[in-house]
Amino acid sequence: MQIRAAVLEAFGQPLVVQDVELAPPRAGEVLVKLKSCGVCHTDLYTASGADPSGYCDCVLGHEGAGIVEEVGEGVTSVKPGDHVVTLFSPECGECIHCKSGKTNICLAIREQQGKGVLPDGTSRLSRAKGELRHFMGTSTFAEYTVMPEIALAKVNPEADFDAICLLACGATTGIAAALWKAEVEAGSSVAVFGAGMVGLGAVAGAKLRGAEKIIVVDTSADRLELAKQFGATHTLLGGDGAVQQVLDETDGFGADYTFEATGIVGVMGQAVEAARMGWGLCTVLGVAGKGEQLAITPRFLITGRRVQGGSFGGAKGRTHVPQLVDMYMQGKLDLDGFVSHRITLDEVNKGFDLMHDQDGIRSVIQFA
Ligand SMILES: NC(=O)c1ccc[n+]([C@@H]2O[C@H](COP(=O)([O-])OP(=O)(O)OC[C@H]3O[C@@H](n4cnc5c(N)ncnc54)[C@H](O)[C@@H]3O)[C@@H](O)[C@H]2O)c1
Ligand SMILES: [Zn+2]
Ligand SMILES: [Zn+2]
Repeated sequence: MQIRAAVLEAFGQPLVVQDVELAPPRAGEVLVKLKSCGVCHTDLYTASGADPSGYCDCVLGHEGAGIVEEVGEGVTSVKPGDHVVTLFSPECGECIHCKSGKTNICLAIREQQGKGVLPDGTSRLSRAKGELRHFMGTSTFAEYTVMPEIALAKVNPEADFDAICLLACGATTGIAAALWKAEVEAGSSVAVFGAGMVGLGAVAGAKLRGAEKIIVVDTSADRLELAKQFGATHTLLGGDGAVQQVLDETDGFGADYTFEATGIVGVMGQAVEAARMGWGLCTVLGVAGKGEQLAITPRFLITGRRVQGGSFGGAKGRTHVPQLVDMYMQGKLDLDGFVSHRITLDEVNKGFDLMHDQDGIRSVIQFA
């Protein structure tokens, strides 16, 4: 079938929205009609050419939600009409990692996904000039996509697509990190560095868990203001003095839980140092630049601080995303507050510009 899609033709150049041919789903695959898709930093990072593992030509986009249109042979867990959130991080339930219960890093289709093809080693995307590759196994900057069944989370059909598409990446990363990766305890103190969607998600997760003190650190006064809406009890301007200020707010000890959501290695170091002596747990969520290293003074570890990280906040997509959609429907999670701009697929590059200018939290592409 012919669809409209945003193609990355050359690094550092605007995406080109054009007609693309999409082949039907094969065994284990599903055709999804996209309804909404968020524009995330990882799309911009790949488009810029900064990501060493990036490739083109491909159809970008990974924060999608839509409706199942058709299923390939052997697909049993979703059917036409089901509402789904796309997952760049699949959950097969059968690989050694999925079975362990200890990690969300499913091994089933990892290698092929990294190469830009579907699990059988081929692409469903093409155009007159030749074959196109898939991106993150999702390619959701498009009217339709074909994806592996194991990379779709079936969700409550009552939920608004603009809100739940954010659970395909940014929002889940922060929320799941607080709820299930760090398992923030009721009554605890939390410090979140960076108040973009990932950091604000961690704030929301910490609030849901009943944290007593939620300190948010950011260099932008606007973002700090927004953080209060999501549950921040204290806000601090980021910079050199941030660690000391977190210590001052926590009786000199540091926070029980810290989260880093900036991608800046210096801030990751601050998040480690702001974690409480004895048991403080620092969760690193930001993606650092190529070759950058995080320096930690060993004394901080010897005296009981712990450091962890999590892709997708450690969330198991097919298990956790439907739960988060339900929490949203029950009014426990505010996802609507993250949507700052609604744009069309043709305006996808505007979405990148808005992100670059830190204008709002998320631009969401709406499809017909
Ligand atoms: N772990 C994952 O799977 C995953 C998923 C999505 C995004 N990410 C990464 O998470 C990070 C955050 O993503 P986002 O979408 O929220 O980004 P964002 O750019 O919207 O937010 C980052 C925030 O950090 C703030 N900041 C900058 N310098 C700071 C400093 N010195 N101290 C405190 N705050 C500072 C900025 O003002 C901004 O508000 C990025 O690195 C992104 O690539 C990771
Ligand atoms: Zn993303
Ligand atoms: Zn698996």
